[in-house]
Amino acid sequence: MDKVHGITLDIAPSEAFLPPADLAALAPRVSAVAADLAAGRGPGSEYLGWLDLPATISGQHLDSLEAAGVQAQSDCEVCVVIGIGGSYLGARAVLDALGGSAAGAPEIVFAGTGLCTASLRRALAAVKGRDFRLVVISKSGTTLEPAVSFRILRGLLQERYGEEGAAARIDAVTDASRGALRQLADQSGWRTWIIPDDVGGRFSVLTPVGLLPLAMAGVDIRGLVVGAADMREVCLTDDMRANPAHLYAATRFGLYERGFHTEVLATFHSGLATIGEWWKQLYGESEGKEGKGIFPASTVYTTDLHSLGQYVQDGRRNLLETFLVVREDEPAIKVPKDPGGGEGLDGLDYLVGQRLDAINWKAYEGTLEAHGEGGVPCLSLQLDCVTAGAIGGLISLFEKGVAVGGRLLDVNPFDQPGVEAYKRAMFRLLGKPGA
Ligand code: PA5
Repeated sequence: MDKVHGITLDIAPSEAFLPPADLAALAPRVSAVAADLAAGRGPGSEYLGWLDLPATISGQHLDSLEAAGVQAQSDCEVCVVIGIGGSYLGARAVLDALGGSAAGAPEIVFAGTGLCTASLRRALAAVKGRDFRLVVISKSGTTLEPAVSFRILRGLLQERYGEEGAAARIDAVTDASRGALRQLADQSGWRTWIIPDDVGGRFSVLTPVGLLPLAMAGVDIRGLVVGAADMREVCLTDDMRANPAHLYAATRFGLYERGFHTEVLATFHSGLATIGEWWKQLYGESEGKEGKGIFPASTVYTTDLHSLGQYVQDGRRNLLETFLVVREDEPAIKVPKDPGGGEGLDGLDYLVGQRLDAINWKAYEGTLEAHGEGGVPCLSLQLDCVTAGAIGGLISLFEKGVAVGGRLLDVNPFDQPGVEAYKRAMFRLLGKPGA
């Protein structure tokens, strides 16, 4: 399999649980599903806009996003991004993976990600005494959580900058014509960015939903898009062994059919923890329906080896584990000589001069070995290092992987009817008119 932006997928550790011949037998089904996706057939095919997105984003569009980024960098210290689910997780995941805002770019603070008072208080505290702007993101334009936070933060923005000044500091990312946010934005003269109709929330990170906040944070959005486009290209091949998205989808589906119903995405890189959060939404919302689907969980090792490690090693044997690991972290930190005079009483002298990332890699290899022996089928997604291109590639791989995986399960991977149930009950309890 060709490496794309330093990404490789190794499924060998799962072969003891899913023999290569059984995996190969899934190839014709994977091919049929991929052909349907490419031809725009099958359930949810009105939401396939993300498939070609990385290859079709224009230079002009990226220019306008970057220009908005430069403007934000010149007029604010904090940019509050308001959205929930697919309307914030992608931007946050990429930003965390790449180490946060670039030097000189505003701090990005996320709000509207729930209804928790403490969380909104943190956003309010972050803008206290600092220049700020708002990016409000909602595809439907009617979601309660971001709408409530936006109302509060918009009030504050208006108090600070006056009505006109505030209007110049709001970007709305929403549907081209529908929803309350679109109406409000048009009436108020805010700058707007369109979420294409054929791209669902959890697949929208490469639309302005993800790219606008990332541009404001000074992230290399071009590199991200190039990485996604290059991975998309590789994931067009019909040769399952050479196609990481198809291979990932087939392997986890084969394991699901053998009773492995929970997948742990385990990273050894704390910056990738939020990729785990984004991945959980992508996979949980796409596959978890009609009584089917793998439950997606995520961990950060070695931290969680000291909490969840016991369960993964020894608990109920329905887990599969996908490691998301990074070979090199730059700039490196090495284990120094004993600062206490060289006696080495802490027992670490055998590690002197070794890089922390190399030690972390051995921890990964040890965990892979132990969990495999403990009855957990493991896969491994390896990044040479964390770059915008690698993260773009990962996004593309996971998106195609879930589309194929959902179709193998025979569900519509692009809807989320179950999300409405809590809303109906909540709105009734809140006394919303008509609920
Ligand atoms: O994937 C999805 O569609 C959802 O998670 C949505 O992104 C989330 O509910 C937010 O919806 P909206 O962007 O309409 O406010």
